[in-house]
Amino acid sequence: MNTNNNNQQFSIIGCGRLGVSLAVFLSKQGFIPKAFSSRSIESAKKACESVGMGRVFDTPIQAAKASKLVFITTPDTTIEPVCENLSKQGAFDKDSIVYHFSGALSSGILTAARKSGASTGSIHPLQAFAPYESGQDSPFKGINMSIEGDQKAVEFGKEIVNALKANSFTIPTEAKTLYHASAVVASNYLVTLEHFALELLMASDMSQKDAYEVLEPLIMGTLNNIKARGSVNALTGPVARGDDEIVSKHLKDIDKKLPQFSDLYRLLGQYTLKIASQRGEISNDAQQKLGKLFKF
Ligand SMILES: NC(=O)c1ccc[n+]([C@@H]2O[C@H](COP(=O)([O-])OP(=O)(O)OC[C@H]3O[C@@H](n4cnc5c(N)ncnc54)[C@H](OP(=O)(O)O)[C@@H]3O)[C@@H](O)[C@H]2O)c1
Repeated sequence: MNTNNNNQQFSIIGCGRLGVSLAVFLSKQGFIPKAFSSRSIESAKKACESVGMGRVFDTPIQAAKASKLVFITTPDTTIEPVCENLSKQGAFDKDSIVYHFSGALSSGILTAARKSGASTGSIHPLQAFAPYESGQDSPFKGINMSIEGDQKAVEFGKEIVNALKANSFTIPTEAKTLYHASAVVASNYLVTLEHFALELLMASDMSQKDAYEVLEPLIMGTLNNIKARGSVNALTGPVARGDDEIVSKHLKDIDKKLPQFSDLYRLLGQYTLKIASQRGEISNDAQQKLGKLFKF
């Protein structure tokens, strides 16, 4: 399949943050927005005005029937029921390609469309989208976007991502949940971890702003080391050196002054010890001593 056929024409069901940006920036690359539908007619009209092309429809079924390429950009919890409703009403056939853009859910939730003969896939941009503002730069440019689904949907998905000037990578459908968990750990839990570090420093009467400024070069340097050397080789510090005396001092102070963090420090220590052990640089004796310290 290539983009020189009427698969270039597309419909948006769900005119929110992602749907509008998708329509705006695909339309700048030769894709033709034919139809917009949303829960409220106001959102659909606003999307259509932002793009400057296409038609507003009162119902998702009318919009979905207007083109063979259908993007369901409603919130995660509504994608499956929206797809089921559209399928029940005969929106899709063997020439249809249906995508959603959730990171947490796989193309499996589009089964109803697949049963109607459509190709189905999910495309997930690793990016946070704000409401579209006229004249803004593309939030897709240069970002990474995962694609999974059936072969036709994956191949056409690559063309879509390419048109958005983003980088595509494919994942197996059954890996979608772990892929999303990975993104949550990489982003959300990194915030959690840095919040934890700030709290330890703020316990010495430092403001959050000052604490962040003190730690920032260390945080950025560590990210650079992971990039340059990989996560196992980037590990430094007392656990990587097998220094149980220092770790023991940390724990004594945390247990006494900030006991709410005792379990978290120990749990992270257990996992860090596993990484350090992979390098084979710390003695068995040090590993055992550290393992004992990190036990709950
Ligand atoms: N925003 C992000 O940063 C981001 C990043 C990656 C992936 N995604 C994914 O993109 C998808 C959309 O997220 P979003 O952030 O764009 O959400 P959003 O801003 O809340 O927009 C969702 C839109 O869907 C419309 N809608 C809700 N229920 C509907 C229904 N039953 N039928 C038709 N339209 C309906 C809403 O209606 P009205 O406005 O008409 O009331 C709203 O305009 C989700 O799958 C999300 O996981 C979002």
